[in-house]
Amino acid sequence: MKNINIVKVSRKNSISKTFYQKTKIKKFPKGETLIKDWPNSWKKIYTKDYPRLESIQLPKNIPPLNTSISTILLKRKSERIFFRKKVSLSKLSTLLFYSAGIIPGSKTWNVTRRFYPSAGARYPLEVYLSTNNIVGLENGLYHYNIRCHSLDVLLQERHLNKKISELTNQDWVSKSNIIILITSAFQRTQTKYDDRGLRHILLESGHLAQNVYLVGNTLDLKVCAIGGFIDDKINNLIDIDNEEEGIIYVLAVGT
Ligand SMILES: Cc1cc2nc3c(=O)[nH]c(=O)nc-3n(C[C@H](O)[C@H](O)[C@H](O)COP(=O)(O)O)c2cc1C
Repeated sequence: MKNINIVKVSRKNSISKTFYQKTKIKKFPKGETLIKDWPNSWKKIYTKDYPRLESIQLPKNIPPLNTSISTILLKRKSERIFFRKKVSLSKLSTLLFYSAGIIPGSKTWNVTRRFYPSAGARYPLEVYLSTNNIVGLENGLYHYNIRCHSLDVLLQERHLNKKISELTNQDWVSKSNIIILITSAFQRTQTKYDDRGLRHILLESGHLAQNVYLVGNTLDLKVCAIGGFIDDKINNLIDIDNEEEGIIYVLAVGT
């Protein structure tokens, strides 16, 4: 068989012996910590923005998704054959909003509630995207600014999807319209949960990714999750430092 790497797992180095064991909760501190007693570092919600870069406002009139949840779930699948037909900016806007955006109208301390859960409402995840053939948007690399529902322009270049597909070692990725890169700003979660926070971060990116699948498939976009990529090269490309923030998950979305 070509191109298949069988990973040999020694019992000494298995995930369960290292990461899983090291991040177990053995017991809880006595008593309950009420939200009113939380330190500010557990309540302050951080989101990333790039005030010195150009930003592009996404359409704000987001249509409701009038499809039943059972229809959406039955439709969900991973697809890898893309023809890169045009995708409208409003479709991209709807996809980002329902996958990773802020639910409007919260009246609690947590004014940035999302469409996915987050341990302690720490919201460590950031979303970047590389686009190709979105109507009215130059091909390029963008950061999704969730507070403004806009795109911070990081790099406008034609062949980024090809470059990123090489970093996933999967050719078909280059034919997608949107490559979604989910990163984590680790400290936001670690400040409350210490090393166990990484478990939360990984689970949360799965929640967000499922939104991409369900919303994407509802909008007739094909979606495929990608777990294999050269982490450091993706981090370099989006100019994040590997330590404070790092890539967690990638999804290819296309037509
Ligand atoms: C964490 C994770 C990583 C994945 N990585 C890849 C990948 O690198 N390449 C790929 O083609 N599919 C990848 N997939 C998609 C799976 O192959 C797919 O979900 C599985 O075959 C089941 O098919 P379905 O999603 O259509 O139900 C990944 C899925 C998950 C959850």
